[in-house]
Amino acid sequence: MQKIHISELAKYVGQTITLSGWLYNKRSSGKIRFVILRDGTGILQCIVFKGNVSEEIFNLADRLGQESSIEITGTVKEEKRAPGGFEMDVTDLKLISEAHEYPITPKEHGIEFLMDIRHLWLRSSRQVAIMRVRHRIIKAIRDFFDNRGFTLMDAPILTPAACEGTSTLFETPYFDLGKAYLTQSGQLYAEAGAMALGKVYSFGPTFRAEKSKTRRHLTEFWMVEPEVAFNDLYDNMDLAEEFLEYIVQTVLSERAEELKSLERNTSFLEKVKRPFPRIHYDEAVEILKKNGIDFEYGNDLGGTDETVISNQYDRPVMVHHYPVEVKAFYMKRDPNEPSKAMAVDVLAPEGYGEIIGGSQREDNLDLLLQRIKEHNLPQKAFDWYLDLRKYGSVPHSGFGLGIERTVAWICGLEHIRETIPFPRMIYRNTP
Ligand code: 4AD
Ligand code: MG
Repeated sequence: MQKIHISELAKYVGQTITLSGWLYNKRSSGKIRFVILRDGTGILQCIVFKGNVSEEIFNLADRLGQESSIEITGTVKEEKRAPGGFEMDVTDLKLISEAHEYPITPKEHGIEFLMDIRHLWLRSSRQVAIMRVRHRIIKAIRDFFDNRGFTLMDAPILTPAACEGTSTLFETPYFDLGKAYLTQSGQLYAEAGAMALGKVYSFGPTFRAEKSKTRRHLTEFWMVEPEVAFNDLYDNMDLAEEFLEYIVQTVLSERAEELKSLERNTSFLEKVKRPFPRIHYDEAVEILKKNGIDFEYGNDLGGTDETVISNQYDRPVMVHHYPVEVKAFYMKRDPNEPSKAMAVDVLAPEGYGEIIGGSQREDNLDLLLQRIKEHNLPQKAFDWYLDLRKYGSVPHSGFGLGIERTVAWICGLEHIRETIPFPRMIYRNTP
């Protein structure tokens, strides 16, 4: 049998149809029971009028608890004032599974309580809207690269060594081989891919044993990482800004309803159009000084620093040429300014901070080997990576975009924990 969903009701006005879903909410008024049905695609007010149904059905409507699963039949009518724009006059109601004392009620709940029942919280309309935006962001990302000649080439999750510093590694025993680490980034493998296929991207879960509890950090998050042979730092910035413009503008047009239900003020998002401002680290430090921030030249930018800088602009800002000391071993030093890495971070507006980190990579074998030693990394684990510099090394660049930070920014969320179905953080690994 063909299944009909709430999102398609416009096609069925005046017709009698059957919908399957869950009881989202209920109200009563004299001889009428209002059953609010949700089916994952939308919400529909269904009117059970005592005179239109058997006593048995009316009693069932009366008795059902929130989140009972039901099948409901009736006539669809247009109703401008109803959420979604439609209503249903019910003629039949079937129970699939009865629920009582559902723990989430329309009243306010504390965040820890909701996080403990995340598996149920996901049913709330706000969470549904966020997940639909998340999905559209991911689709936009894939479309962007797929339509520009990139090949998806995913990286392993169990890896032999660190990519982004040894302080945030998750370790696991690995048979007779000793230890393995959960990947912090697919980048090193994406570099191998770029040397094979020219333009690639990896897209998968990445892990950081972040010991800090902040609203921007998860221990497990998703990252998309393009890597392009023969791109320098400036090509990399061009790619990053075209990419972000595409994602934001696509979500604005394709998920307008969800953003509205999240009460997102989209005026800042509408301005996310190329070109984005590009500032050297030195200029960033100037901005901090001018704003009375006590910042020591040479340090990395902290969350507050990023907010002060991004507040100067009405669109994402690209900060480049960070001091080499605060950046990863694989980044190329600028030959014209050897104290700086050819790195770029993209800071989102409205205080959302760094959403992209990228760089041109060190392509010289001897220099790369030197960096591996300086960073006390186990050289043997990087032999394969050094091969990429031995056999036809070329300038190349790439970046990583964190999906959850992007979702938080586009949806306008306070905290990153609502941007992923089941968040993993220092104090939480359930449900
Ligand atoms: O700046 P990061 O550490 O860069 C890399 O991992 C590079 N290997 C990427 C590359 O050049 N291919 O991380 C990239 C992005 C950050 O800008 C941020 O959006 C996100 O990943 N990110 C996190 N998101 C949530 N929780 C965390 N703990 C995150 N750490 C990084
Ligand atoms: Mg970074």
